[in-house]
Amino acid sequence: MPAALVTGSSRGIGRAIALRFADDGYDVAVNYRTSDEAAAAVADAVRDRGQAAVAVGADVSDPDAAAHLVETAADALGGVDHVVNNAGIDQHVYTADLGPDDFDRVMDVNVNSAFNVTKAALPHLRESEDGPSVTNVSSILAHTGAPVECHYAASKGALLSLTRSHAGDFAPEIRVNAIAPGHVETDMTGDRTPEEKREELAAIPVDRYGQPEDIADAAAYFRDAGFVTGETLNVNGGELMR
Ligand SMILES: NC(=O)c1ccc[n+]([C@@H]2O[C@H](COP(=O)([O-])OP(=O)(O)OC[C@H]3O[C@@H](n4cnc5c(N)ncnc54)[C@H](OP(=O)(O)O)[C@@H]3O)[C@@H](O)[C@H]2O)c1
Repeated sequence: MPAALVTGSSRGIGRAIALRFADDGYDVAVNYRTSDEAAAAVADAVRDRGQAAVAVGADVSDPDAAAHLVETAADALGGVDHVVNNAGIDQHVYTADLGPDDFDRVMDVNVNSAFNVTKAALPHLRESEDGPSVTNVSSILAHTGAPVECHYAASKGALLSLTRSHAGDFAPEIRVNAIAPGHVETDMTGDRTPEEKREELAAIPVDRYGQPEDIADAAAYFRDAGFVTGETLNVNGGELMR
């Protein structure tokens, strides 16, 4: 069976991608940093769908932990054919109040992690016979910027450059693409006030928030799209065209 490694898949968008890949016949390595029980439940849900699963706790901003994650996944599942670099953190702080440690932490978790996991997975991806791919989860804020989360927006912009660079580096064997979601209902966006929600919804032409499954659709597309590399798919209900 082909296998996929999805970082940050104990919750939210990563969880939906893990389950979608299992529905599509993929074995799945579930990764998380702290949510042991939630990750174990996602692995069980993958097994319920008839696929093999392994849950691996690893802080992917740490190169050694990322390498351990990849090797554990490959050992348990017999290889790694697709990587989805989804793990990420957000923080709302004005630039004037933002310290260098917070800036670095967001860059480490959102950008360095993708470099760490992709680099560690390269030998396995090169052995794949499933049209191997890497998909990086960026954000609409990579395009628009974000005044109270400049480090988050910068990290997501860097992911798009990393995506295009890696698409060139690894062609023709491995395709590398990015998804740039708009507002998706997860824990990450769960702290909005009713007024903030009204304002956000008013800017989304399809008049609803994205669901994690909307992003999983895009991840499945990139996994299968053999003639697509170095691209970004904007999944935002039309928000970017305004
Ligand atoms: N939600 C949105 O509106 C939105 C919009 C655009 C882009 N995105 C991006 O989509 C991705 C997923 O977001 P989400 O909303 O699903 O977030 P979420 O609900 O907060 O889930 C984040 C996931 O990442 C994991 N994680 C965080 N730091 C990690 C680390 N250092 N090492 C390994 N795993 C780590 C978490 O593990 P634990 O459970 O163990 O903490 C969790 O599984 C992120 O990259 C985010 O920036 C989200």
